[in-house]
Amino acid sequence: MNILVIGGGAREHALCHALSADPAVGELHCAPGNAGIAAVASTHPVDALDGNAVAALARRLDAGLVVVGPEAPLVAGVADAVRAAGIPVFGPSAQAAYLEGSKAFAKEVMAAAGVPTARSYVCATAAESDAALTAFGPPYVVKDDGLAAGKGVVVTGDIAVARAHARGCDRVVVEEYLDGPEVSLFAVTDGETVVPLQPAQDFKRAHDGDEGPNTGGMGAYSPLPWADPKLVQEVMDTVLQPTVDEMRRRGTPFSGLLYAGLALTSRGVRVVEFNARFGDPETQVVLARLRTPLAGVLLAAATGTLADLPPLRWSDGAAVTVVVAAEGYPDAPRAGDPIEGLDAVAAEDAPHAYVLHAGTRLDDTGRVVSAGGRVLSVTATGADLAQARDRAYRAVGRVSLAGSHHRTDIAARAAG
Ligand code: AMP
Ligand code: GLY
Repeated sequence: MNILVIGGGAREHALCHALSADPAVGELHCAPGNAGIAAVASTHPVDALDGNAVAALARRLDAGLVVVGPEAPLVAGVADAVRAAGIPVFGPSAQAAYLEGSKAFAKEVMAAAGVPTARSYVCATAAESDAALTAFGPPYVVKDDGLAAGKGVVVTGDIAVARAHARGCDRVVVEEYLDGPEVSLFAVTDGETVVPLQPAQDFKRAHDGDEGPNTGGMGAYSPLPWADPKLVQEVMDTVLQPTVDEMRRRGTPFSGLLYAGLALTSRGVRVVEFNARFGDPETQVVLARLRTPLAGVLLAAATGTLADLPPLRWSDGAAVTVVVAAEGYPDAPRAGDPIEGLDAVAAEDAPHAYVLHAGTRLDDTGRVVSAGGRVLSVTATGADLAQARDRAYRAVGRVSLAGSHHRTDIAARAAG
């Protein structure tokens, strides 16, 4: 079976990395891809937001499955266009992806399904948001209702900052602050059957010690040795299955990847957010531990046959990923700088550690140069978190990119 992956970040590189190791996969294609993905898949230029263009490319490549990576094409209806062309697609319809596309809609679905989440108000005017901020008190949590590429959420003790963010957005969700550690749990679903993956933890803040601005994610690890072994089942029963059931009940079934961002508060598990796609960088560590070949899992979700899938198999070991970000990320990342040391990682650290590209491209002379905020992530596996972490940081040490920064404390506490 030929597979076409849509997107060009480290998440899509991780997907292609896993799919390229699956004997069921014939040709592996990615559009648009990036400099690293080109080593494991044929890459093709495409406007990833244009469903007809993606469907035409899939037909030309004789794809038996299209996997849509990022949220923007999903919200734009790319999965609908591919499905309408009669090609199985892993990824929700535009209507179902609205679970990520609108935080207010996600709250409405959670309320209907009885899913635990932060109490919130949807506010369309400054007077409404001011009243909500006063009602909850600090720390203030203000979320842009729509997709905002990781920049939509402000958590602050400063009422002026909270107000300014609310005034800068058309519609916001103001909600209660949730304390406690965050966990990302992904589930694959065909709209009915829900199959959870292994939990991971993401590091959202730019700097060590959870300092600095929120980012798309600076690193991740899995498993979570500190978490209650019953956590996955609890989230299945209270969050994932009820949400999938509610979406089906509404006539807009959700198939693809449902990402639950969770806070483990002193009062129990609460949903922080839903995403309609694999998370980045958590996917890098979750897929590094998946032993079941990936293509069959994604195809079963795309074709409504997940109930027949045997239980997923997982490595007992651990995986850690560390994001290397460009100078100035997240505010104003610098691009166009050469990245050195990638060959050294391939020669010295593979297969336990490897580089997944995100914001990279080949320049006119064939050099790999930076082309985005999160430039690459180094992923490593090991018998335990300590070993995976050592391997990841050893490989990070071989990569050089002028002005780049990365966190040095990914998985440090969990590794003990
Ligand atoms: P979101 O895009 O909704 O996941 O928000 C991004 C990040 O903001 C989350 O990963 C949390 O670290 C933080 N955040 C979001 N909502 C809350 C909340 N209600 N309480 C505390 N932190 C939050
Ligand atoms: N790691 C956060 C996200 O993918 O949204």
